[in-house]
Amino acid sequence: MSEPTPVRVRPEIAALPVYRQGRQAGAEAFKLSSNENPFEPLPHVVDALRDTTAVNRYPDASASRLRARLAERFGVTVDEVHIGAGSVSILSQLILAVSGPGDEIVYPWRSFEAYPGLVVVGGADRVEVPLAADGRHDLTAMAAAVTERTRAIIVCSPNNPTGPVVTQAEFDAFLRSLPDDLLVILDEAYAEFVTAPDAVDGLRELGVVRPNVVALRTFSKAYGLAGLRIGYAVGHRRVLDAARATAIPLSVTAQAEVAALASLDAEDELRDRVRIIAERRDRIAAGLRDAGWCIPDAQGNFVWLPTGAETTDAAATFDGAGLIVRAFPGDGLRISIGEEESVDTVLRIAASVVEGLPEDHPARRLA
Ligand SMILES: Cc1ncc(COP(=O)(O)O)c(C=O)c1O
Repeated sequence: MSEPTPVRVRPEIAALPVYRQGRQAGAEAFKLSSNENPFEPLPHVVDALRDTTAVNRYPDASASRLRARLAERFGVTVDEVHIGAGSVSILSQLILAVSGPGDEIVYPWRSFEAYPGLVVVGGADRVEVPLAADGRHDLTAMAAAVTERTRAIIVCSPNNPTGPVVTQAEFDAFLRSLPDDLLVILDEAYAEFVTAPDAVDGLRELGVVRPNVVALRTFSKAYGLAGLRIGYAVGHRRVLDAARATAIPLSVTAQAEVAALASLDAEDELRDRVRIIAERRDRIAAGLRDAGWCIPDAQGNFVWLPTGAETTDAAATFDGAGLIVRAFPGDGLRISIGEEESVDTVLRIAASVVEGLPEDHPARRLA
């Protein structure tokens, strides 16, 4: 125990759990706990990084080359693109830009574990809307949770950690049911892994920016740059200006920008890798169902096992087999799609875990 401090920390901050990162894996273990990309960086990206050595200089504050590149790609203006040190930092900026004490932010739960903390730090109240039983957003309940105090609503598609998408038709109807001054944040961190043809795609219509919708994307997952911290938003210029105003200046490094540009140059190769990960995911999901698991549709680079009260024990079983997975005690386990060499062990251990669950456990497929 450390000595108490006389410093007065905001009580809601003192009560906040510290962000828990997926555990690091030992040399023999597979780290399947942080939804990272298992492939090593492309040589072309490493070369570009090697050439970016002027670390005695500050980076270009607005990452203008990457903004221009993304603007061209999505048919929008440069002002309708914003770059952040990971998409989570843009999420934080947006929340700070639109809300403060007395306001509310609505989001699905369970979803990305950073949401509650970001809302509390900004001073607004959290409004968590439970997912439906199949791990999908309950958009009707989310729309019904909107009050005069609501400033933003977050949609996470595919939902981390459960996996299903929101469909384009559902999203469009949802938007129509909301007040038009409400900011809708569409968090699409895993969009590139989606294979469901009817999934929402916040960047589907070239050149179309809806005035109250911001789509968030990242280079951390499909592009394999998690360690460099770079993500982007596409949305209305005024909304993004407000986010830019809350940003910590110069937090996107030149290395991150250069690596993102190099990744866009090597997009075909990266898309091949994404295809491999999505196929591996589908194979794992099918194997889990064959073994008797009842799991939600997996559209990201992870699968969800709704182990409920058995979660901690199940995580220990995976751990014992050298598989570091993410446990949400009382709720379920999320297993990232990792190296091909991890697949057989994942399926073997998962089969033994499901056999040990009570017959009437919701995670067991009904015969
Ligand atoms: C749903 C979701 N949004 C955002 C992020 C943050 O990604 P980034 O690395 O771009 O900050 C994650 C990362 O796990 C995520 O799962």
